[in-house]
Amino acid sequence: MSERSESKGISRRKFIQGVGTGVIGSSVLIDTLQAGPKDEQKQPPPGTEALFLKVNGKSVNLKIDPETTLIEVLRNFLHLTGTKLVCNQGECGACTVLLDGVAVYSCHMLALDAAGKEVTTIEGLLTGEKLHPIQEAFVQHDGMQCGFCTPGQIMAAQAFLLKNPKPSKAQALEGMSGNICRGGAYPKIIESVIAAVE
Ligand code: FES
Repeated sequence: MSERSESKGISRRKFIQGVGTGVIGSSVLIDTLQAGPKDEQKQPPPGTEALFLKVNGKSVNLKIDPETTLIEVLRNFLHLTGTKLVCNQGECGACTVLLDGVAVYSCHMLALDAAGKEVTTIEGLLTGEKLHPIQEAFVQHDGMQCGFCTPGQIMAAQAFLLKNPKPSKAQALEGMSGNICRGGAYPKIIESVIAAVE
């Protein structure tokens, strides 16, 4: 049982019992995207918690299992599958998204901890069909090998460049150190980050 569950007065046992009744079926019920004030006043069923957040500029209103992680909400319920799940334990950075402009590992964060905040995923960097300059730089400079870690790398680069718009190569290496590429494309990844600045 997590501290969060205890602090909200919801024990894991009660939650599991709630699921077992079949009242809520699967652990998460999606209410609606862009819900209005009336929806926000509804009480969530037992075993669920209401969650409001913004994802890529859109308001999202859900009812979720309190132990649902942010990446589960993004991929499984909002179908934003650009964010990749690899280690699922906060080690590789593949699941990196921005939370109010700061890079976070979405596999390692409860969705409820993102409540009321602005989440940006790789999909949110696009302007219509147009790639973001960082995405463009990764394409132009081959900043990838298999590409699976690339969305996380790009989101980490976005957060890093927001903080440090004119980094040196050494600073870029340090700033990107939270993201692993198993293909070893680091030289090209750093080249892409520096190119995005230029
Ligand atoms: S999948 Fe989240 S850090 Fe590896």
